[in-house]
Amino acid sequence: MRLSALYCTQIFAATVIAQLVIPYDGIRPNSHDQTPLIMDPVGPALPPSPPSDGKPPQAPPAQGGVLISDVMGRDRSINIFAGFTRDVASISGRLDDSSKNSTVLAPLNSAVEKLPRKPWEDPREYDTFGANAYEGEDGQDRAQRNLQRFVEAHVVPASPWQEGEKVKPLYGDRDIWWEMKDGVKVIQPDEIEVDSIASRVGNGEVWIVKGVRNYA
Ligand SMILES: *[C@@H]1O[C@H](CO)[C@@H](O)[C@H](O)[C@H]1NC(C)=O
Repeated sequence: MRLSALYCTQIFAATVIAQLVIPYDGIRPNSHDQTPLIMDPVGPALPPSPPSDGKPPQAPPAQGGVLISDVMGRDRSINIFAGFTRDVASISGRLDDSSKNSTVLAPLNSAVEKLPRKPWEDPREYDTFGANAYEGEDGQDRAQRNLQRFVEAHVVPASPWQEGEKVKPLYGDRDIWWEMKDGVKVIQPDEIEVDSIASRVGNGEVWIVKGVRNYA
């Protein structure tokens, strides 16, 4: 990560954090942790991707020295998930590592918000530990572990990822693959539509997806 760029973008980030971060701050698992959700360089916010119109997503050209960690925060339509990737050390390290390729399946904010529970909540833990399952130090640890699984279930350790190629995401026992269906990329077996490819960079790609994987 380039420090001068970091410094400049921090200034920029400070101005956009108010718009980008605060609305979602309420769903952070570590509410005592005052670190802003977006602390990496976010770069200039790009215009929102055009709505999909049934045509196959057009991938932007690959950018050589840039890493997924540099671009993850760019598209505000996925900034909840982007924040999660920064909160999970194993993932933020991987996305910042030029020797490890990934295809990140980043669910739209709307898909994360539609979940019946927060991504770090597990109904079995509410059964076991009661309503305070995510309070206190043990509760924070549980939330952090669950969040890690959620994020890892959306990271494929391969890029390029060919159509029909079965791979195991970083979390979960089931293989996933993708296929073209009526001109749209669909992640299988979850049947999740790919909205667009947000970025292609040196260590992989960020795909914006319309749903959240069911990985339990
Ligand atoms: C990693 O991704 C880059 C950029 O797409 C590609 O040039 C390279 O061949 C990939 N490496 C592997 C091992 O797949």
